[in-house]
Amino acid sequence: MRTCAWFAPGRANLMGEHTDYNKGLVLPFALAQGVTATAVARPGRLLELRSRQAPGQPVTVPVDSLEPGSVTGWAAYPAGVAWALRAAGYPVPGACIDIDSDLPVGAGVSSSAALECSVALALCSLAGAAVPRRELAAIARRAENEFVGAPTGIIDQSAALLCRAGHAMLLDCDTLDLTHVPFRAGLDGIAALIIDTGVPHALVDGEYGRRRAECEQAARLLGVPSLGTVSDVAVADLLTDPLLRRRARHVISDSARARAIASALQAAQASQDEPEPGIYRFTGQLLTQAHASLRDDFEVSWPEADVAVDVVIEAGGYGARMIGGGFGGSVLALVPASRLPAMRAALTEAFAGRSWKPPEFLDAVPSAAARQIA
Ligand code: GLA
Repeated sequence: MRTCAWFAPGRANLMGEHTDYNKGLVLPFALAQGVTATAVARPGRLLELRSRQAPGQPVTVPVDSLEPGSVTGWAAYPAGVAWALRAAGYPVPGACIDIDSDLPVGAGVSSSAALECSVALALCSLAGAAVPRRELAAIARRAENEFVGAPTGIIDQSAALLCRAGHAMLLDCDTLDLTHVPFRAGLDGIAALIIDTGVPHALVDGEYGRRRAECEQAARLLGVPSLGTVSDVAVADLLTDPLLRRRARHVISDSARARAIASALQAAQASQDEPEPGIYRFTGQLLTQAHASLRDDFEVSWPEADVAVDVVIEAGGYGARMIGGGFGGSVLALVPASRLPAMRAALTEAFAGRSWKPPEFLDAVPSAAARQIA
């Protein structure tokens, strides 16, 4: 194939934050919004990369001599994917790749993984290489970890490549076992709303790596391979260092919340008698608990997110929490659809009252994983 276009979605994570690199549970769903990579084979061994979101000269990189650190800025993601595909033994052709996106960047909805996965699929398509999606997720993650230099886990690439429409995906980041559970946001009078707080977050900043190191230290002291493999939150109390105790408590409890929500959503599907609002009320309560845990125990929240969560609850939402790595980005709220307009107004007013720039809103509808569109 000489030309093709692939779309890869962003994601929201219903539960399990900072659990992926601890080998715990995550429960993300793919969004309808995402990144499109349109690729045309090009003679020679160069990749010519353009993005509608970064107007200006195309970035041209040599396929055969890519090295971590050799490309910076947005183009490091597609270049890193080419590097990681080659490192995994797959052919990478010369190509012109045009990127377009309707995902906000820095909003904690995984625009980076959507970029990596759309480019990975487009390059594989041009090369005629059939790479299993789980393997492709690992390749895209390697691009981000080793080429871009962001020490992230596997949730984002897995969500972009493996989620199903109308479902959230429970992923065990230790065994990589996954279960699709029905999640009908956008239906049943229930809405999932992403509130972009306008504070950009950047994963290459040191705090994310610091949290990772603290979790590894806590696991070492507890004598377990990783915090996510612990299911009893009382184990965290064995740590004498109060900071490490808080970090461990967050990771263990967030994994447990991911399992609890997945089980409830599955049970609701099995039993037609289950009143839907009950499930969403329960899920919302766990979202709000998780926010408190991210704010107080893991200390990755930020003032705009804390205010947004409070406003959602006051305005009659089921619950809300920050999503993504933290220190900026978005809040995910679960709300009765009938309350959406009032909720948006209340959020905008609360931000204006603090002289913050207005929040942006994104409907979060559980959507399909990456797909070929041309
Ligand atoms: C970022 C990373 C993910 C994950 C989250 C926190 O989005 O890319 O791998 O660690 O932070 O849950």
